[in-house]
Amino acid sequence: MFDSVSGLQLKLVITADGSHTLYNSGIGEHYHSTGGAITESMHVYIRNGLMPVMEDNDIFHLYETGLGTGLNALLACIEARRQCKSIHYHACELLPLDIRITEQLNYTSLVNSEYAAADFSAIHTQAYNGEPVRVHKHFILSKYQCDFSEVNFHDEQLRLVFFDAFSSNAQPELWCIELFSKLWRAMLPGALLVTYATAGHVKQALRQSGFQVQRLKGVAGKREMLRALKL
Ligand SMILES: C[S@@+](CC[C@H](N)C(=O)[O-])C[C@H]1O[C@@H](n2cnc3c(N)ncnc32)[C@H](O)[C@@H]1O
Repeated sequence: MFDSVSGLQLKLVITADGSHTLYNSGIGEHYHSTGGAITESMHVYIRNGLMPVMEDNDIFHLYETGLGTGLNALLACIEARRQCKSIHYHACELLPLDIRITEQLNYTSLVNSEYAAADFSAIHTQAYNGEPVRVHKHFILSKYQCDFSEVNFHDEQLRLVFFDAFSSNAQPELWCIELFSKLWRAMLPGALLVTYATAGHVKQALRQSGFQVQRLKGVAGKREMLRALKL
């Protein structure tokens, strides 16, 4: 199907856990692991990123590159309500999806939350580059339509980063020391960056940017994932 808002040629795909992902034929990649989109997002971003940060912080800033289908944002929004911990979620996206595409995604029927449909709709109907919006008591969303490589942070004090760009094969320019260092400077001591990627040069670029890098068990067909700590 053609997304007239992003100009992308996309295909709706069912992954191994029954949840949808999109295939971007221009890039030649899926938005998530075909081994399970929700399974991967829960494991990499929620269990190994959000939950440890929530243990130590009642209120914090989180940055995602890029928002895409909004799956990570939805899962974080649900977890914030469940744990009564407050997130200011900042998401950048170069090519926002048409709401007529995101409405076809089956996430809200698969996650265990009576508010999922309302949350997901709020995440996608919010305008880009406007004022932050309070989706619920514990979740504020700021959406930026921009190229992440051109973002300038101004004292963001991030506690957590979801690094979820397309792969370093498809987008080598985003997985580099310059951009990881920019994030490192915007993060507080003790902050985490999590990503599904495990390529050697990604690990090396993270280390050279100042992070301590941990390899964690992967999921959904992937052996490992990375978690980087700013000491
Ligand atoms: C692997 S997909 C993951 C998306 C999302 N996290 C999700 O759960 O659907 C990568 C996303 O990064 C976006 N993206 C690619 N290049 C970007 C850039 N330079 N700046 C901001 N976003 C970008 C893509 O449009 C896509 O939505």
